[in-house]
Amino acid sequence: MLPGHRVDCTMSAGEIVKRVWAITGGKGQLGRSLAALLEARQVSFQAWDLEDFDISDAAQVNGRLSAWAQQVSDELSSDQTGACETVLINTAAFTQVDLCESERETATRVNEQAPQFLAAACAKNGIRMVQISTDYVFDGRAQVPYEVDSETNPLSHYGASKLAGEGPVLAAGGLVVRTSWLCGPGRNFIEAILEQAAKRHSGEVEGPLRVVEDQRGCPTYAVDLAEGVVDLVEADARGVVHLTNSGNATWWEFARAILDSAGYGDLEMEAIATKSLSLPAPRPAYSVLSCARATQLGVTMRPWQDALTAYLEKQGKK
Ligand SMILES: NC(=O)c1ccc[n+]([C@@H]2O[C@H](COP(=O)([O-])OP(=O)(O)OC[C@H]3O[C@@H](n4cnc5c(N)ncnc54)[C@H](OP(=O)(O)O)[C@@H]3O)[C@@H](O)[C@H]2O)c1
Repeated sequence: MLPGHRVDCTMSAGEIVKRVWAITGGKGQLGRSLAALLEARQVSFQAWDLEDFDISDAAQVNGRLSAWAQQVSDELSSDQTGACETVLINTAAFTQVDLCESERETATRVNEQAPQFLAAACAKNGIRMVQISTDYVFDGRAQVPYEVDSETNPLSHYGASKLAGEGPVLAAGGLVVRTSWLCGPGRNFIEAILEQAAKRHSGEVEGPLRVVEDQRGCPTYAVDLAEGVVDLVEADARGVVHLTNSGNATWWEFARAILDSAGYGDLEMEAIATKSLSLPAPRPAYSVLSCARATQLGVTMRPWQDALTAYLEKQGKK
Protein backbone atom coordinates (compact mmCIF):
# COMPACT_ATOMS: atom_id res chain seq x y z
CA MET A 1 0.00 0.00 0.00
CA LEU A 2 1.25 3.48 -0.83
CA PRO A 3 1.45 6.25 1.79
CA GLY A 4 -1.61 7.98 3.18
CA HIS A 5 -2.28 10.90 5.47
CA ARG A 6 -4.52 11.67 8.42
CA VAL A 7 -7.79 13.35 7.54
CA ASP A 8 -7.82 17.02 8.44
CA CYS A 9 -10.99 18.86 7.50
CA THR A 10 -11.52 22.49 8.31
CA MET A 11 -15.10 23.69 8.56
CA SER A 12 -16.18 26.79 6.71
CA ALA A 13 -19.90 27.58 6.73
CA GLY A 14 -20.90 24.02 5.86
CA GLU A 15 -18.97 23.95 2.57
CA ILE A 16 -16.75 21.14 1.39
CA VAL A 17 -13.35 22.50 2.30
CA LYS A 18 -11.31 19.31 2.12
CA ARG A 19 -11.45 16.20 0.06
CA VAL A 20 -10.05 12.82 0.94
CA TRP A 21 -8.89 10.97 -2.14
CA ALA A 22 -8.37 7.35 -3.13
CA ILE A 23 -6.57 6.24 -6.26
CA THR A 24 -6.63 2.84 -7.94
CA GLY A 25 -3.82 2.00 -10.35
CA GLY A 26 -1.52 3.82 -7.91
CA LYS A 27 1.63 2.44 -9.54
CA GLY A 28 0.62 3.30 -13.10
CA GLN A 29 1.65 6.45 -14.98
CA LEU A 30 -1.35 8.54 -13.95
CA GLY A 31 -1.73 6.93 -10.54
CA ARG A 32 1.86 7.77 -9.61
CA SER A 33 1.44 11.32 -10.88
CA LEU A 34 -1.73 11.78 -8.82
CA ALA A 35 -0.09 10.36 -5.70
CA ALA A 36 2.91 12.69 -6.15
CA LEU A 37 0.63 15.70 -6.63
CA LEU A 38 -1.52 14.97 -3.57
CA GLU A 39 1.56 14.18 -1.50
CA ALA A 40 3.13 17.52 -2.52
CA ARG A 41 -0.09 19.34 -1.61
CA GLN A 42 -0.21 17.51 1.74
CA VAL A 43 -3.71 16.35 0.95
CA SER A 44 -5.21 13.18 2.47
CA PHE A 45 -5.15 10.25 0.07
CA GLN A 46 -4.94 6.50 -0.23
CA ALA A 47 -3.36 4.83 -3.28
CA TRP A 48 -3.94 1.16 -4.14
CA ASP A 49 -2.61 -1.04 -6.92
CA LEU A 50 -3.15 -4.63 -8.01
CA GLU A 51 -1.00 -5.95 -5.17
CA ASP A 52 -3.44 -4.37 -2.67
CA PHE A 53 -6.68 -5.55 -4.30
CA ASP A 54 -8.11 -6.54 -7.65
CA ILE A 55 -10.67 -4.00 -8.88
CA SER A 56 -12.34 -6.71 -10.98
CA ASP A 57 -13.28 -8.66 -7.83
CA ALA A 58 -16.62 -7.28 -6.59
CA ALA A 59 -16.18 -8.60 -3.04
CA GLN A 60 -12.71 -7.04 -2.68
CA VAL A 61 -13.96 -3.73 -4.11
CA ASN A 62 -16.87 -3.62 -1.67
CA GLY A 63 -14.72 -4.57 1.29
CA ARG A 64 -11.93 -2.08 0.56
CA LEU A 65 -14.13 0.89 -0.26
CA SER A 66 -16.49 0.34 2.69
CA ALA A 67 -13.54 0.02 5.07
CA TRP A 68 -11.87 3.13 3.64
CA ALA A 69 -15.07 5.22 3.83
CA GLN A 70 -15.55 4.05 7.43
CA GLN A 71 -11.93 4.90 8.31
CA VAL A 72 -12.32 8.41 6.88
CA SER A 73 -15.56 8.87 8.78
CA ASP A 74 -13.98 7.61 12.04
CA GLU A 75 -11.14 10.10 11.70
CA LEU A 76 -13.53 13.03 11.39
CA SER A 77 -14.95 14.77 14.40
CA SER A 78 -18.76 14.95 14.33
CA ASP A 79 -18.82 18.62 13.28
CA GLN A 80 -16.62 17.88 10.28
CA THR A 81 -18.63 15.18 8.53
CA GLY A 82 -20.43 17.58 6.19
CA ALA A 83 -17.21 19.38 5.34
CA CYS A 84 -15.36 16.47 3.74
CA GLU A 85 -15.94 14.67 0.48
CA THR A 86 -14.45 11.29 -0.39
CA VAL A 87 -13.33 10.92 -4.02
CA LEU A 88 -12.14 7.78 -5.84
CA ILE A 89 -10.14 8.17 -9.05
CA ASN A 90 -10.00 4.91 -10.97
CA THR A 91 -6.88 5.01 -13.11
CA ALA A 92 -6.45 1.21 -13.07
CA ALA A 93 -7.04 -0.50 -16.40
CA PHE A 94 -5.78 -3.21 -18.72
CA THR A 95 -3.95 -0.73 -20.96
CA GLN A 96 -2.03 -3.03 -23.31
CA VAL A 97 -4.15 -2.33 -26.36
CA ASP A 98 -2.90 -5.24 -28.49
CA LEU A 99 -3.07 -7.79 -25.67
CA CYS A 100 -6.70 -6.75 -25.08
CA GLU A 101 -7.50 -8.38 -28.45
CA SER A 102 -6.14 -11.80 -27.43
CA GLU A 103 -7.08 -11.52 -23.72
CA ARG A 104 -10.60 -10.23 -24.20
CA GLU A 105 -12.00 -11.72 -21.02
CA THR A 106 -9.42 -9.94 -18.87
CA ALA A 107 -9.98 -6.67 -20.75
CA THR A 108 -13.74 -6.95 -20.22
CA ARG A 109 -13.27 -7.80 -16.54
CA VAL A 110 -10.86 -4.94 -15.75
CA ASN A 111 -12.03 -2.21 -18.11
CA GLU A 112 -15.78 -2.85 -18.19
CA GLN A 113 -16.90 -4.82 -15.12
CA ALA A 114 -14.54 -3.31 -12.55
CA PRO A 115 -15.86 0.26 -13.06
CA GLN A 116 -19.36 -1.17 -12.48
CA PHE A 117 -18.27 -2.67 -9.15
CA LEU A 118 -16.44 0.50 -8.18
CA ALA A 119 -19.38 2.75 -9.13
CA ALA A 120 -21.78 0.59 -7.09
CA ALA A 121 -19.48 0.57 -4.05
CA CYS A 122 -18.96 4.33 -4.36
CA ALA A 123 -22.73 4.93 -4.50
CA LYS A 124 -23.22 2.74 -1.41
CA ASN A 125 -20.54 4.56 0.58
CA GLY A 126 -21.19 8.14 -0.55
CA ILE A 127 -17.91 8.33 -2.50
CA ARG A 128 -17.65 10.49 -5.60
CA MET A 129 -16.19 8.52 -8.52
CA VAL A 130 -13.92 9.59 -11.35
CA GLN A 131 -13.24 7.15 -14.19
CA ILE A 132 -10.37 7.68 -16.62
CA SER A 133 -11.23 6.78 -20.22
CA THR A 134 -9.68 7.03 -23.63
CA ASP A 135 -9.67 8.57 -27.11
CA TYR A 136 -9.89 4.97 -28.44
CA VAL A 137 -13.68 5.10 -27.89
CA PHE A 138 -13.72 6.92 -31.27
CA ASP A 139 -13.16 5.40 -34.72
CA GLY A 140 -10.88 8.16 -36.01
CA ARG A 141 -12.86 8.98 -39.12
CA ALA A 142 -13.46 12.59 -38.00
CA GLN A 143 -11.44 15.48 -39.33
CA VAL A 144 -12.17 17.89 -36.52
CA PRO A 145 -11.60 17.32 -32.78
CA TYR A 146 -14.05 14.99 -31.01
CA GLU A 147 -16.45 16.69 -28.62
CA VAL A 148 -17.71 15.00 -25.45
CA ASP A 149 -21.01 14.16 -27.19
CA SER A 150 -19.51 13.05 -30.53
CA GLU A 151 -20.61 9.60 -31.64
CA THR A 152 -18.44 6.81 -30.24
CA ASN A 153 -17.49 3.76 -32.29
CA PRO A 154 -14.46 1.94 -30.88
CA LEU A 155 -12.33 -0.03 -33.33
CA SER A 156 -10.60 -2.27 -30.77
CA HIS A 157 -11.65 -4.41 -27.82
CA TYR A 158 -9.66 -2.08 -25.56
CA GLY A 159 -11.73 0.89 -26.79
CA ALA A 160 -15.00 -1.04 -26.54
CA SER A 161 -14.27 -2.26 -23.00
CA LYS A 162 -13.25 1.24 -21.86
CA LEU A 163 -16.41 2.73 -23.39
CA ALA A 164 -18.56 0.13 -21.62
CA GLY A 165 -16.81 1.10 -18.36
CA GLU A 166 -17.97 4.71 -18.70
CA GLY A 167 -21.71 3.91 -18.48
CA PRO A 168 -22.09 2.87 -14.84
CA VAL A 169 -19.98 5.80 -13.64
CA LEU A 170 -22.08 8.29 -15.60
CA ALA A 171 -25.32 6.62 -14.45
CA ALA A 172 -24.18 7.11 -10.84
CA GLY A 173 -23.54 10.85 -11.42
CA GLY A 174 -19.75 10.52 -11.59
CA LEU A 175 -17.10 12.08 -13.79
CA VAL A 176 -15.51 10.41 -16.84
CA VAL A 177 -12.28 12.02 -18.06
CA ARG A 178 -11.21 10.90 -21.52
CA THR A 179 -7.55 11.46 -22.30
CA SER A 180 -4.99 10.28 -24.87
CA TRP A 181 -1.37 9.34 -25.62
CA LEU A 182 -0.30 9.42 -21.98
CA CYS A 183 3.36 9.75 -20.95
CA GLY A 184 4.31 9.74 -17.29
CA PRO A 185 6.48 7.98 -14.74
CA GLY A 186 7.43 4.52 -16.01
CA ARG A 187 7.62 3.00 -19.47
CA ASN A 188 6.13 5.23 -22.15
CA PHE A 189 6.53 6.44 -25.77
CA ILE A 190 9.14 9.09 -24.88
CA GLU A 191 11.33 6.53 -23.12
CA ALA A 192 10.91 4.05 -25.99
CA ILE A 193 12.04 6.65 -28.53
CA LEU A 194 15.02 7.71 -26.40
CA GLU A 195 16.05 4.08 -25.93
CA GLN A 196 15.96 3.48 -29.70
CA ALA A 197 17.87 6.72 -30.29
CA ALA A 198 20.60 5.73 -27.81
CA LYS A 199 20.98 2.33 -29.51
CA ARG A 200 21.46 4.02 -32.89
CA HIS A 201 23.89 6.56 -31.45
CA SER A 202 26.03 3.82 -29.93
CA GLY A 203 25.96 1.79 -33.15
CA GLU A 204 24.11 -1.13 -31.48
CA VAL A 205 21.29 -0.69 -34.03
CA GLU A 206 21.58 0.64 -37.57
CA GLY A 207 19.16 2.43 -39.86
CA PRO A 208 16.63 5.22 -39.41
CA LEU A 209 14.12 5.25 -36.58
CA ARG A 210 10.79 4.12 -38.09
CA VAL A 211 7.70 5.80 -36.63
CA VAL A 212 4.08 5.87 -37.84
CA GLU A 213 2.91 9.07 -39.42
CA ASP A 214 -0.76 8.27 -40.17
CA GLN A 215 -2.19 8.56 -36.63
CA ARG A 216 -2.88 11.99 -35.17
CA GLY A 217 -3.71 12.61 -31.51
CA CYS A 218 -2.88 14.66 -28.43
CA PRO A 219 0.25 13.71 -26.48
CA THR A 220 -0.50 14.18 -22.78
CA TYR A 221 1.83 14.46 -19.80
CA ALA A 222 0.47 12.43 -16.87
CA VAL A 223 1.72 15.04 -14.39
CA ASP A 224 -0.38 17.74 -16.11
CA LEU A 225 -3.36 15.40 -16.39
CA ALA A 226 -3.21 14.62 -12.67
CA GLU A 227 -3.48 18.31 -11.87
CA GLY A 228 -6.29 18.75 -14.40
CA VAL A 229 -8.32 15.86 -13.00
CA VAL A 230 -8.03 17.23 -9.45
CA ASP A 231 -9.03 20.68 -10.73
CA LEU A 232 -12.07 19.18 -12.50
CA VAL A 233 -13.23 17.53 -9.27
CA GLU A 234 -12.73 20.80 -7.41
CA ALA A 235 -14.81 22.51 -10.13
CA ASP A 236 -17.58 19.94 -9.38
CA ALA A 237 -17.43 18.51 -12.93
CA ARG A 238 -19.72 15.58 -13.73
CA GLY A 239 -20.47 13.72 -16.94
CA VAL A 240 -17.89 13.35 -19.72
CA VAL A 241 -14.93 15.74 -20.01
CA HIS A 242 -12.02 15.51 -22.48
CA LEU A 243 -8.63 16.50 -21.09
CA THR A 244 -5.27 16.45 -22.88
CA ASN A 245 -2.32 18.76 -23.38
CA SER A 246 -3.24 21.29 -26.07
CA GLY A 247 -2.24 20.96 -29.71
CA ASN A 248 -1.90 17.69 -31.59
CA ALA A 249 0.69 15.67 -33.51
CA THR A 250 1.30 12.45 -35.38
CA TRP A 251 3.47 9.86 -33.63
CA TRP A 252 6.18 10.80 -36.16
CA GLU A 253 5.96 14.50 -35.25
CA PHE A 254 5.95 13.66 -31.55
CA ALA A 255 9.02 11.42 -31.95
CA ARG A 256 10.83 14.09 -33.98
CA ALA A 257 10.18 16.65 -31.22
CA ILE A 258 11.46 14.20 -28.58
CA LEU A 259 14.67 13.58 -30.52
CA ASP A 260 15.25 17.27 -31.28
CA SER A 261 14.66 18.25 -27.63
CA ALA A 262 16.87 15.51 -26.19
CA GLY A 263 19.94 16.20 -28.33
CA TYR A 264 19.33 13.68 -31.11
CA GLY A 265 18.54 16.28 -33.80
CA ASP A 266 20.83 14.51 -36.26
CA LEU A 267 19.12 11.14 -35.96
CA GLU A 268 17.42 10.05 -39.15
CA MET A 269 13.76 9.02 -39.07
CA GLU A 270 11.56 7.18 -41.52
CA ALA A 271 7.81 7.72 -41.70
CA ILE A 272 5.83 4.49 -41.92
CA ALA A 273 2.15 3.52 -42.21
CA THR A 274 0.33 1.87 -39.27
CA LYS A 275 -0.71 -1.08 -41.43
CA SER A 276 2.95 -1.98 -42.06
CA LEU A 277 3.21 -2.94 -38.35
CA SER A 278 0.37 -5.53 -38.59
CA LEU A 279 -0.73 -4.81 -35.02
CA PRO A 280 -3.56 -6.93 -33.58
CA ALA A 281 -5.64 -3.90 -32.50
CA PRO A 282 -6.71 -1.27 -35.02
CA ARG A 283 -6.01 2.34 -33.95
CA PRO A 284 -8.05 5.45 -34.80
CA ALA A 285 -6.24 7.47 -37.48
CA TYR A 286 -7.44 10.72 -35.90
CA SER A 287 -8.26 10.89 -32.19
CA VAL A 288 -7.81 14.56 -31.35
CA LEU A 289 -10.07 15.40 -28.41
CA SER A 290 -11.73 18.79 -28.07
CA CYS A 291 -11.17 20.07 -24.53
CA ALA A 292 -13.85 22.77 -24.90
CA ARG A 293 -15.90 21.45 -21.98
CA ALA A 294 -12.86 21.38 -19.69
CA THR A 295 -12.09 24.97 -20.74
CA GLN A 296 -15.67 26.00 -19.88
CA LEU A 297 -15.12 24.46 -16.45
CA GLY A 298 -11.97 26.56 -16.06
CA VAL A 299 -9.44 23.76 -16.63
CA THR A 300 -6.85 24.11 -19.40
CA MET A 301 -3.54 22.38 -20.07
CA ARG A 302 -0.35 23.72 -21.65
CA PRO A 303 0.79 22.80 -25.21
CA TRP A 304 2.23 19.28 -25.49
CA GLN A 305 5.60 20.73 -26.62
CA ASP A 306 5.95 22.59 -23.28
CA ALA A 307 4.89 19.47 -21.41
CA LEU A 308 7.55 17.47 -23.29
CA THR A 309 10.21 19.98 -22.23
CA ALA A 310 9.02 19.69 -18.62
CA TYR A 311 9.10 15.87 -18.81
CA LEU A 312 12.64 15.80 -20.21
CA GLU A 313 13.88 18.35 -17.67
CA LYS A 314 12.35 16.37 -14.81
CA GLN A 315 14.06 13.19 -16.05
CA GLY A 316 17.36 15.09 -16.49
CA LYS A 317 17.31 14.38 -20.23
CA LYS A 318 17.37 17.95 -21.49
N1 LIG B 1 -1.56 5.11 -21.50
C1 LIG B 1 -2.23 5.80 -22.40
O1 LIG B 1 -1.69 6.20 -23.44
C2 LIG B 1 -3.68 6.13 -22.17
C3 LIG B 1 -4.38 6.84 -23.15
C4 LIG B 1 -5.72 7.15 -22.94
C5 LIG B 1 -6.34 6.75 -21.76
N2 LIG B 1 -5.64 6.04 -20.84
C6 LIG B 1 -6.33 5.63 -19.61
O2 LIG B 1 -5.73 6.34 -18.54
C7 LIG B 1 -5.73 5.54 -17.36
C8 LIG B 1 -4.34 5.52 -16.77
O3 LIG B 1 -3.45 4.98 -17.73
P1 LIG B 1 -1.95 4.65 -17.37
O4 LIG B 1 -1.17 4.76 -18.62
O5 LIG B 1 -1.56 5.42 -16.15
O6 LIG B 1 -2.07 3.10 -17.01
P2 LIG B 1 -0.91 2.12 -16.55
O7 LIG B 1 0.38 2.84 -16.40
O8 LIG B 1 -1.00 0.91 -17.43
O9 LIG B 1 -1.39 1.72 -15.08
C9 LIG B 1 -2.53 0.94 -14.87
C10 LIG B 1 -2.40 0.34 -13.48
O10 LIG B 1 -3.57 -0.44 -13.22
C11 LIG B 1 -3.16 -1.62 -12.55
N3 LIG B 1 -4.15 -2.68 -12.73
C12 LIG B 1 -4.36 -3.44 -13.83
N4 LIG B 1 -5.32 -4.33 -13.60
C13 LIG B 1 -5.74 -4.13 -12.33
C14 LIG B 1 -6.71 -4.76 -11.50
N5 LIG B 1 -7.45 -5.77 -11.94
N6 LIG B 1 -6.88 -4.32 -10.23
C15 LIG B 1 -6.11 -3.30 -9.76
N7 LIG B 1 -5.18 -2.66 -10.49
C16 LIG B 1 -4.99 -3.08 -11.76
C17 LIG B 1 -1.84 -1.97 -13.23
O11 LIG B 1 -1.12 -2.88 -12.44
P3 LIG B 1 -0.08 -3.88 -13.16
O12 LIG B 1 0.92 -3.01 -13.86
O13 LIG B 1 0.45 -4.68 -12.04
O14 LIG B 1 -0.90 -4.68 -14.15
C18 LIG B 1 -1.19 -0.61 -13.35
O15 LIG B 1 -0.44 -0.27 -12.20
C19 LIG B 1 -6.30 4.18 -17.77
O16 LIG B 1 -7.65 4.14 -17.43
C20 LIG B 1 -6.16 4.16 -19.27
O17 LIG B 1 -7.15 3.35 -19.87
C21 LIG B 1 -4.32 5.73 -21.01
